[in-house]
Amino acid sequence: MNGPPARANAPSRPASGKPPTRVAVLASGRGSNLEALLQAIGKGWVDAEVTLVASDRGDAGALQRARDHGVAATLSLPREPGEERDAYDARLLDAVQAEAPDLVVLAGFMRILGADFVQAYRHRMVNIHPALLPSFKGPRGVRDTLAAGAKLAGCTTHYVTEDLDGGPILLQAALPVHPGDDEVSLARRVLRLEHQLLPRTVQLWHEGRIHVEAGLATIQPGPTWDRLHRPEALYSEGF
Ligand code: GRF
Repeated sequence: MNGPPARANAPSRPASGKPPTRVAVLASGRGSNLEALLQAIGKGWVDAEVTLVASDRGDAGALQRARDHGVAATLSLPREPGEERDAYDARLLDAVQAEAPDLVVLAGFMRILGADFVQAYRHRMVNIHPALLPSFKGPRGVRDTLAAGAKLAGCTTHYVTEDLDGGPILLQAALPVHPGDDEVSLARRVLRLEHQLLPRTVQLWHEGRIHVEAGLATIQPGPTWDRLHRPEALYSEGF
């Protein structure tokens, strides 16, 4: 029987008895990680629904992608001239809380969130970083990986804490740095890994399998994942 076409942002099958995790995504740029998450949801790999995409940049590609996928709320929220950081954070926090997300995902969000925001979503806010933390924190993860002569690059998802790029590490995937790699070529390969790591992290969060003790996260054993289709990549959920 032919039903209406499934929207990309609507889980095609519930993976468990739980309602889908409501996700708010904050993004400043092109939004390829948002796209990967929306597509993974649409394929039924992640039992979640993106209910809000907010950006501090009105021209962020992420906002357009969200509209294209029919995300219920999209919000352009640039910082106003002269606006204090705390005041902006409070505005953003209000806007996010109005959508009552279970989980906040920072997918290329280029602002540092203050303590109130971080505390409101402790262990409910995930960031994706394009390097193997705790090395190469900050905004130039791929460039710094190359500059250090590291032989492995990769990406990390972590909980957001007050410590920039320093919260509990959730998942990581690594790949070799090739001779002749430059920032563009390496970032491209790392980004493809990000597009798998972030949706997988959201699904593990949905399944309640992430536990943090003494600042360290462990993933509880459960259904594994066979979708890391990068032959050269190394990936472990740690069990
Ligand atoms: C990604 O490399 C992410 O790791 C970093 O910002 C970039 C965002 O890319 N935090 P996109 O906007 O998701 O394409």
